[in-house]
Amino acid sequence: MLLSNFPNYSYKINNQISVYFSHKELNGEVLPPNFLFEVSVVIDVLRATSTIVTALNNGAKEIIPFEEIKEALEFKNKINEKNLLLCGERGGIKPEGFELGNSPLEFTSEIVKDKSLILTTTNGTRAFLKAFKISNKVYIASFLNVSSTVEILSKYNNIAIVCAGNNGSVSYEDTQLAGFIIEKLLSKKDYSLSDSAKIAYNLWKSLKKPDFTGEHAKKLIELGFQKDVDYCQNIDKISIVCEGIRQPQNLLKVKIIKTKI
Ligand code: MLT
Repeated sequence: MLLSNFPNYSYKINNQISVYFSHKELNGEVLPPNFLFEVSVVIDVLRATSTIVTALNNGAKEIIPFEEIKEALEFKNKINEKNLLLCGERGGIKPEGFELGNSPLEFTSEIVKDKSLILTTTNGTRAFLKAFKISNKVYIASFLNVSSTVEILSKYNNIAIVCAGNNGSVSYEDTQLAGFIIEKLLSKKDYSLSDSAKIAYNLWKSLKKPDFTGEHAKKLIELGFQKDVDYCQNIDKISIVCEGIRQPQNLLKVKIIKTKI
């Protein structure tokens, strides 16, 4: 097997942080078992991972992500359980027949406590599902729970940060969080940075605080979600760690693995 077939092979040589700017970069990525990253962390700050972290913090039992609306509906119909809520968006809007959209502010404890949430979103849930192609351990991060997530990530040497991105393009907000995570990791120990990680890190160093003025932020504001855009910029409002867990029958779920670090 030629090393050059694997663009991220250099992470094996050094302690390295790499960034994927969009889930679509993972489409063709097939890393053999020896070349997997030790861990990956998925971010879709506007809004899927902010929603997941909020829902779990408010007592949701688990999140069950799906790539397609059809698969989410089939799962809901197959299980037919009243504690299972169908949630998600396309184009930022709740699809017909869904119980909740993808606004983190909808996921209050009154609504989600002890519920299992099926979630399908345009980019975020796809990034989560694809992250398992490049590592067996997958965490979920947002600005809301950044420090607790970094605490866990810093136990690893070779880290992939998977940004959901914006329909195949770079997301300004995801890249900021990637840079913030890198800054926090570097304050704990030395890592070498891939070129993509350098770009994210230098963006964050130039900003020093969230600047939610990217294309998707503007679109959400146009759709009436200004409050979501404001909420998702809160740093460390929540101190849980959320991990992707493999389940039987190829099902992947997200659960809280630590409530406080
Ligand atoms: C996505 O997965 O693309 C989103 O989280 C979009 C959104 O609902 O803002």
